[in-house]
Amino acid sequence: MSKYLITSALPYANGPIHFGHIAGAYLPADVFSRFLRQKREEVIYICGTDEHGVAITINAEKAGVPYKEYVDGHHKTIKAFFDKLNIRFDHFSRTTIAEHYPLSQEFFTELYGKGLIKPAAEQQFYCPKCERFLADRYVTGSCPKCGAPDVRGDECTKCGEWLEPSKVVGPTCKVCGTKPEIREVTQYFLDLPAFGPKLKAWLESKTDWKPNVKNKALSLINEGLVKRAITRELTWGVPVPLPEARGKVLYVWFDAPIGYISATMEWARLKGEPEAWKDWWFGKDVKLVHFIGKDNIIFHTIIWPAMLMGQSKPYILPDNVPGNEFYNLENRKFSKSEGWYIDTDDFFSKYSVDALRYAIASNGPETADSQFLWEDFAARNNELADTLGNLVNRCFSFIKKNFDGKVPAQGELKPEDKALLDPFQPAFDEVGRSYYSYKVRQALSGAMAQAIAANKYVNDTAPWKLRKTDIDRCATVLNVAARAIVNCAILLYPVIPDTALKILAKAGVPREGAPEFKPYTASLDNVALGPDDTLLFAKIPDDQIKAEIEKLKASSNPA
Ligand code: MF3
Ligand code: ZN
Repeated sequence: MSKYLITSALPYANGPIHFGHIAGAYLPADVFSRFLRQKREEVIYICGTDEHGVAITINAEKAGVPYKEYVDGHHKTIKAFFDKLNIRFDHFSRTTIAEHYPLSQEFFTELYGKGLIKPAAEQQFYCPKCERFLADRYVTGSCPKCGAPDVRGDECTKCGEWLEPSKVVGPTCKVCGTKPEIREVTQYFLDLPAFGPKLKAWLESKTDWKPNVKNKALSLINEGLVKRAITRELTWGVPVPLPEARGKVLYVWFDAPIGYISATMEWARLKGEPEAWKDWWFGKDVKLVHFIGKDNIIFHTIIWPAMLMGQSKPYILPDNVPGNEFYNLENRKFSKSEGWYIDTDDFFSKYSVDALRYAIASNGPETADSQFLWEDFAARNNELADTLGNLVNRCFSFIKKNFDGKVPAQGELKPEDKALLDPFQPAFDEVGRSYYSYKVRQALSGAMAQAIAANKYVNDTAPWKLRKTDIDRCATVLNVAARAIVNCAILLYPVIPDTALKILAKAGVPREGAPEFKPYTASLDNVALGPDDTLLFAKIPDDQIKAEIEKLKASSNPA
């Protein structure tokens, strides 16, 4: 048994998030933590909104709303979206809570005290019209590395290079369009090169990481780490804790990951055990797992571990950083402003959350970019309806009609019964291994293979015929089918939790918390089925999907 501290990248409180984010950093983490709870491991799953940074201040200014009010609104919307999708955090916090500021300052102070953060003069753009330094995205221009036009000052969205705002080529002020002048200003730099050898050895010791994540991190080290400015001239953020640094705040990417810890502190405080966060962050036996999208790899495998290594307190380092690739929509990036998106209220008025979770998970961007395709969504939904939904419905309504609503007692098992039930133990082993190693697609195909086998079993044994010819055999077949259904629900619980719990309730199986991840062994003889007769999944007709695609195309307005 281990303890798992699981996080998902803190989403910016800067607009609604979409299925692409869900596929990359949230659903995989939710699936993993639900599975671990089924294995009776000790787990906390922590997240929250990332509420500082220039992307936020620019948009708040555009909207004419105070910064705090702006992030409050988005925090609420994002939290509601996660609730809707059944992404179940132990705590969902934010980087503007009381704990976050002193903790972020402590991180800075420790590194500064050890000489791992040092001040240096930097040439920076200053807009004479706006009368301010242009931090990050307040300046645009082209990328000095790949030449892409109109990139942001802090990160090239094309090649992923982490930029210094002063390095952008052909700069203009994002707010007023003026060509900025260069002025000298002191910033504070994190000495990443000092961590190089230690980071390299640490990364090399990670034998179970996804190759894309590990290789990306190692290649960044091999290209040579450079010192990075971790302060900015802004009023919104964590103030730099030095008297001579007035008017400066920590760069958002410095304070944001500290949010994982401050959120855990808040979680502990709210449950009345304010010291409990230390059992996790200082716990030698704790596995810290950060779920992220691939654009966050450098921060979680280089900068954040370096920040942790540089502390005197005994923080643990990430055990794994399962980074996922991108998830698009019908061959293009999700983009609300370009009309290329799915309206979620509309979506959930028609389709089930579990069908969506299943569709995303079956085709998740685990090793390569993937996408939401309406046709694929319908196919996955209909697969659930035809396999799982149909199996449950057929068996349970038959039992209700012919056996008084109680699972009939099983007689002696025949080889075909054992051929269905015996493979569940190896299936649990194999599917469990897949969940443990972040291979949800593989886990799902293993679980669904069992549901397919159960359907075939019911077709082949044909209990509706046996009812007239051999009622005892009919009883055994239904008992065996009910057991197979229960086991399928347990295997699929991490991905389709609502449906799995509904199935267990329908089957009259008692339950506490997440259903334990192992073949169900209690007798089902004469167990009364639950009262719920609703269908689990409705099939989606072809013309409805065609209409969805038409609607998407009609709303598209490429910028
Ligand atoms: N807000 C960032 C993004 O959406 C992710 C921050 S993750 C954290 O890309 F570690 F910094 F918190
Ligand atoms: Zn300006």
